[in-house]
Amino acid sequence: MEKFNQTTVKYFIITGISESPILQAPIFLLVLLLYLVTLGGNMIIVLLICLDHHLHTPMYYFLCNLSVLDFCCSTVTLHRILSTFVTGERAISYLTCIAHMYFFGSFICDELLFLTAMSYDRYVAICNPLRYTQVMNGGVCLLLSIVCWILGFLEMIPFIVLISRFTCYKSNIINHFFCDTVEVFKLSCSDTSIFNIVLVTEGLILLCLLPFLLKCISYVFIISTIMKIRSNFGRRKAFYTCSSHITVVILLYATLCYQYQRPSTTDGLDYNKLFSLFNTAALPILNPMIYSFKNKDVKSAFRRQCKYLITHAACNWHLSFKV
Ligand SMILES: *[C@@H]1O[C@H](CO)[C@@H](O)[C@H](O)[C@H]1NC(C)=O
Repeated sequence: MEKFNQTTVKYFIITGISESPILQAPIFLLVLLLYLVTLGGNMIIVLLICLDHHLHTPMYYFLCNLSVLDFCCSTVTLHRILSTFVTGERAISYLTCIAHMYFFGSFICDELLFLTAMSYDRYVAICNPLRYTQVMNGGVCLLLSIVCWILGFLEMIPFIVLISRFTCYKSNIINHFFCDTVEVFKLSCSDTSIFNIVLVTEGLILLCLLPFLLKCISYVFIISTIMKIRSNFGRRKAFYTCSSHITVVILLYATLCYQYQRPSTTDGLDYNKLFSLFNTAALPILNPMIYSFKNKDVKSAFRRQCKYLITHAACNWHLSFKV
């Protein structure tokens, strides 16, 4: 195979989900639909949490941040499919590709950190309810979310610095629908030993295992506290909120692990890409659904805001009618 080096790799070619011309339109429509649903669902949540003062609690603030992150994640990954269909342009400049990797990685790190913060929030709320308002006050909550955002963006810097120093590439064709770090890494023929070390130490231990352990500890405490609750009603309510959190955490980690370990097939319409699509497009839709639309507080806030909107609209209409 022809070897490229950095002077020739000024751009990468993104193959997309499938190269078959017949499939382009259906894929575009499917992705557009997924994207619009993600945008709509997450925007409703952000709006509800901002507008409804019943939802001005740490848990919902974190959820609001999570929705913004979900939206950012799917924008980074899906906009390429949409724009390629419209413009027909498959090439992406080297720097844009690096930027994609950086932002996508950072958003995922942020998401893992926010889920950890949420598990801590639930831990305090359930295991230490009397001190909850004192421990999770506005300042702490704001500080936690700022730390999550900044840490997520810092954590990706070593990877990006190392990747941008790769000078040799086997090819410049990325068999994916966005600039996936793993795919670019596979294309490189530079010495990747340092990258591997960083990947295992920072990536696996610091970014994945540590937050995962923290979440596990929180949930173990939470579950053992829930077991001790005497009243059936209280137990069910506590369990109900936590089960949705645990579902989201498990889903995210399971998909990340699978993604990271998947075998590297390179041709045809492979299931890996479809899985990746599920991972990057469907999970951001599932998150708000699992967290919010199953949640009684959110549902009643939704009803309240709708009612408010309708009465306001009716009033305005009535007024303008009079004038
Ligand atoms: C993130 O959370 C903080 C507090 O925890 C909140 O003040 C802020 O509005 C949230 N930001 C977004 C974009 O949701």
